[in-house]
Amino acid sequence: MPRLSTAHYDRASFNPVHLLARSLRKNTHLPLPVRAANNRRASDLDQRSARWRTRYGPWAVVTGASSGIGREMALRLAEAGLNLVLVGRSQAVLDHMAADLTARLGIQAQVIAVDLALATAVATIETVTHDLDVGLLVAAAGFGTAGSFLDSTLDQELDMLNVNCRALFALSLYYGRQFAKRGRGGMVLMSSIVGFQGMPHAAHYAATKAYVQALAEALYVELGPLGVDVLASAPGPTNSGFAARAGMRMGMALEPVDVAQPTLDALGRRSTVLPGFLSKLLTYSVLFLPRLARVRIMGRVMRSMTTE
Ligand SMILES: NC(=O)c1ccc[n+]([C@@H]2O[C@H](COP(=O)([O-])OP(=O)(O)OC[C@H]3O[C@@H](n4cnc5c(N)ncnc54)[C@H](OP(=O)(O)O)[C@@H]3O)[C@@H](O)[C@H]2O)c1
Repeated sequence: MPRLSTAHYDRASFNPVHLLARSLRKNTHLPLPVRAANNRRASDLDQRSARWRTRYGPWAVVTGASSGIGREMALRLAEAGLNLVLVGRSQAVLDHMAADLTARLGIQAQVIAVDLALATAVATIETVTHDLDVGLLVAAAGFGTAGSFLDSTLDQELDMLNVNCRALFALSLYYGRQFAKRGRGGMVLMSSIVGFQGMPHAAHYAATKAYVQALAEALYVELGPLGVDVLASAPGPTNSGFAARAGMRMGMALEPVDVAQPTLDALGRRSTVLPGFLSKLLTYSVLFLPRLARVRIMGRVMRSMTTE
């Protein structure tokens, strides 16, 4: 049985803009240009938070919230004042996060500890969020595998298919219908730069991300006129729990915050974001090569990254 827990908090006592303004006022020793820059940053933050709350509030469902990119996106949304449903398997981690965010930022947070590889998982999320006014789905839960295709473990690959594609699809369908009905909402679907072509030595993982990329691009066009913003976020290598679970080692890598911030900023503005310089570099440097040449190059890169 999935386990559920709830943390509530009185949000009346919290206003992030006031807190920020108060902390800026304390910095009266700062030279004028620095204070001006701080004021500008505070106002940018304020506008961004207002946009997210208005278009995608009051509740966001974030899968993969216990670690890495999903966790970072949940933090950014909480700072903007959205209430959160945090989804992942790690109950203790999510409970701690919910308690911290409610205490520190004055939002409401609920935890759904569930294994998204299970066929019943999405129904559980639907039931728990049924009475909440959800306006945003961030589908960040996912994992990868790497190594020889022929040495794959069937059960593990099917679990990956269920988490990366099946659960993501079912959640997109459920919340897509809800958002279309209320005429407003957003979905962030985590793709990857590996989804733009085949990737030997991570063949099945790359295929799951190609699925997500194609789904998100189509939904961007199909649901946009209904008021539903859909975004594919396609990062390159990122420092998180991902590499260890996939059996990969990463050299250069982004930090989760380098992915989370540009991703949320891009929602409602375009169909795909390549967050961070590294994602753009790795994508655009091979973009004009024939597709099969890209597959071969990616295969060599991935071969050097597998730890098997
Ligand atoms: N890191 C990269 O290099 C990279 C690059 C491109 C795209 N991505 C994509 O970005 C997304 C986030 O990955 P990340 O880098 O943040 O990795 P991460 O740190 O390992 O986080 C993965 C998240 O997914 C959740 N998750 C994994 N399996 C699950 C399951 N069976 N049921 C429920 N939740 C599950 C994990 O929660 P629990 O462990 O608590 O279940 C965790 O919160 C993934 O979709 C990944 O494919 C990552």
